[in-house]
Amino acid sequence: MSGPYVRIAGWGKYLPQRVLTNSELEAMVDTSDEWIRSRSGIGERRIAAPGETASSMASEAALAALRVAGVQPEELDLIIVATATPDHVAMPSTASLLQHALGASRAGAFDLTAACSGFVYALVTGAQFVQTGLYRTVLVAAAEVYSRILDWQDRATCVLFGDAAGAVVLQATDRPGGLLASLLGSDGSGACQLYVPAGGSALPTSHQTVEQRQHFIRMKGREVFRFATTTVPEAVLRVLDAAHLAPEEVDLLIPHQANIRIIDAVTRRLGLREEAVFTNVDRYGNTSAASIPVALCEALEQGRLHPGANLVMVAFGGGLSWAAAAWKWH
Ligand code: ACO
Repeated sequence: MSGPYVRIAGWGKYLPQRVLTNSELEAMVDTSDEWIRSRSGIGERRIAAPGETASSMASEAALAALRVAGVQPEELDLIIVATATPDHVAMPSTASLLQHALGASRAGAFDLTAACSGFVYALVTGAQFVQTGLYRTVLVAAAEVYSRILDWQDRATCVLFGDAAGAVVLQATDRPGGLLASLLGSDGSGACQLYVPAGGSALPTSHQTVEQRQHFIRMKGREVFRFATTTVPEAVLRVLDAAHLAPEEVDLLIPHQANIRIIDAVTRRLGLREEAVFTNVDRYGNTSAASIPVALCEALEQGRLHPGANLVMVAFGGGLSWAAAAWKWH
């Protein structure tokens, strides 16, 4: 490869303080701790406080990532925020709000929407700017406040999601490593399997849309489950092939944390050792685009990544969309 390599120089996460347990949900909808644990592996999730937003949570995660990288906000060339729950619909972008909050006066900023696949899409996008030599320092953040778009009367969805933010600082380096291969996928024919019907140009907000609770997530769980268990292993195999790696050479797989049964099925299908697969879905639920950067931070805190390690990140979600990246850690 010519040109600079890209490295993850800093990482940070933010989890709101409020923990919502399964037993609390039992008092809100017709569900049980046993059902939620056995079907999804989720024990609790975090819920943003009333004043918290995608940009405020992204800001906390970004400040932590900048500290780890030893980078000042003014050094950032670009900020990408992956979110499906931006502070504002249409404008301004959450990335612009984050840019201002950080005082990143030199940085361009934009949002990227690919639902739960958003962080991997944004990571791959940010890496391109570094690898082409256009930019040297890029902040990639993901922040989600699904608690604001969940129907708290719909037991099929409200038990599955949580709020969180994560961020990484990408930097140019001459040392080989970083992004080895990537894959971005989409199948819009499955758009209605996971979507928010109203509030956009297809169905603008009206009294009727509010009455019909159309501003909340709708999901066909079984279809999404089937899609995930077939698409995710395929995506991993394809990205490994492109990186000239065999499954047994994967030191750590960080899959999107949506459901432990999906993660277990992927682990089995790929023939990976359990220790090579990171999970924290039990504590945070599905935090959409934020799930992989939060998991990455926790994997690093637990010492599960060392220089030279082969890391694979893989996500799937609304769109339908999916994305995978093979990364040599350095
Ligand atoms: N508590 C109790 N019962 C429930 C609950 C609940 N919270 N939710 C649904 N049920 C009931 C259903 O009504 C159904 O009852 P019925 O048989 O009388 O109709 C029964 O439980 C079984 O429902 P299934 O849908 O068959 O349950 P399944 O085993 O498929 O698990 C789940 C459901 C957890 C949603 C699973 O399908 C799944 O994880 N799908 C993938 C979802 C996902 O990953 N989404 C995120 C994508 S990422 C993004 O972009 C946001």
